[in-house]
Amino acid sequence: MSATDNAVWIFDTTLRDGEQSPGCSMNLSEKLTLARQLERLGVDVIEAGFPIASDGDFESVKAIAEEVRGTIICGLSRTGREDIDRALQALEPAAKPRVHIFIATSDIHLEHKLRMERDEVIQEIDRAVRRAREYVDDVEFSAEDATRTDWDFLAMVFDTAIAAGASTINVPDTVGYTMPEEYTRLMQHLSANVPGVNKVRMSAHCHNDLGLGVANSLAAVFAGARQIECTVNGIGERAGNTAMEEVVMALKTRPDMAQGLSTHVNTEEIYPTSRLLSSIIGVSVQPNKAIVGQNAFAHEAGIHQHGVLQAAITYEIMTPQSIGRPSNELVLGKHSGRHAFRNRLAELGIDSESIDFEESFKRFKDLADKKKIVYNEDIEAIVADSVTHTDDRFEFSQLTVLTGTFAVPNATVELVIDGEPRKATAGGVGPVDAVFKAVSDLTETKSDLVRYQVNAITAGLDAQGEVTVTISEDGRKVIGHGAHYDVLVASAKAYVHALNKLEWHKQRHTVAEPKGI
Ligand code: KIV
Ligand code: ZN
Repeated sequence: MSATDNAVWIFDTTLRDGEQSPGCSMNLSEKLTLARQLERLGVDVIEAGFPIASDGDFESVKAIAEEVRGTIICGLSRTGREDIDRALQALEPAAKPRVHIFIATSDIHLEHKLRMERDEVIQEIDRAVRRAREYVDDVEFSAEDATRTDWDFLAMVFDTAIAAGASTINVPDTVGYTMPEEYTRLMQHLSANVPGVNKVRMSAHCHNDLGLGVANSLAAVFAGARQIECTVNGIGERAGNTAMEEVVMALKTRPDMAQGLSTHVNTEEIYPTSRLLSSIIGVSVQPNKAIVGQNAFAHEAGIHQHGVLQAAITYEIMTPQSIGRPSNELVLGKHSGRHAFRNRLAELGIDSESIDFEESFKRFKDLADKKKIVYNEDIEAIVADSVTHTDDRFEFSQLTVLTGTFAVPNATVELVIDGEPRKATAGGVGPVDAVFKAVSDLTETKSDLVRYQVNAITAGLDAQGEVTVTISEDGRKVIGHGAHYDVLVASAKAYVHALNKLEWHKQRHTVAEPKGI
């Protein structure tokens, strides 16, 4: 716990802080799939959501608490009694529950947001932490905007939280404003001035507005923190949160600099986890993203290629295998059977139990008949469509489109809606417009199309097209994606995927966009 303990806990907040980033919202089955993978990854804590924020968040925290038994499951809460009780209720089935209570402490937030005096904040913390401790032993307290809070007041804040029973104290750089040297000094100040700090775990929570999330988190652990709050692929509001894969691999790759510190993460699950998240939210990482980007292990320059072929150590500071990246990017052909397909799914972090395996296998075989080479990306695209969404209202079934230079674009779409097959035809300015109009007529939805994007998943004229659509309705914004070798079918699937997500949020009154913490 104190600076003499060498284990740095990884507190994963992909499902809470990460999910607050625009378009990254997930539904229940997607959250459960990711939570199971986070457990395989070996994170110490999964922050599963903010139960008071919506019925959807409550249900997700509860479902994850019921199913994921080996990891601490955490629910976020403000200091109000109703918030705490809702978090406790959601965490009730958890084997290892943690309530995470936060309140802002900077004068900026006190004056402009909370309109509270400092002594009122202290009373609120004392009352809230004590309330949660009546029911659970594991309570984390966060001082929101800690890095812009007066340091002596911050010490008093944490002193109060510890005296009331908090066992983790978190020092968030909420607005991504601090720098490594300053964050180091702040941690040292707290270590020197908060009585009882050695009995609790100090935690870093950094946002990446200046691109310093990872550097600041590492500075914090070298100054005594023993928990890093982070997200897979660094997703999160604005510029995101500290990227889990980067802090974990920094500590692992530089044991000479790590001062004996290490995490419990099974690093071979990093790449599968990153790919799983990308396929769920439909947001790929940038190609040059550290550790998990497409080019992170690609050597273009001839001199580098030559060196790597002679000895990988010349230009590679870690191996692709150490993060679970399949070394062979060319995968499976038309002769591959179920066993090989299932193995490849596992390597890509895809749980074959959570998808319609037979349907995915059939689609893989169809694709292998049409394409010479089936890549990992093709397989991910196939299964992304097959993740079992028991709560989906709309299911894509068939599409016929008439278009061309002399024809007026016209689309006939068949969907299964609430279990009933339905069909509609619509015209449009272009074929995609016609397809989307037919889908909105059938689903009786009125969302606005914010963005439409189509990419070839792999190289080659026979590549599958992957369509990503962003739609919004009543302030809720969601992303859907679909893949197919016919881009119009991919478009229809992407749109239907997005509409299902929107429907899920509407039914549970969740705000798919940031929850306004
Ligand atoms: O950034 C932040 O301050 C937070 C807190 C709720 C921990 O996410
Ligand atoms: Zn945050």
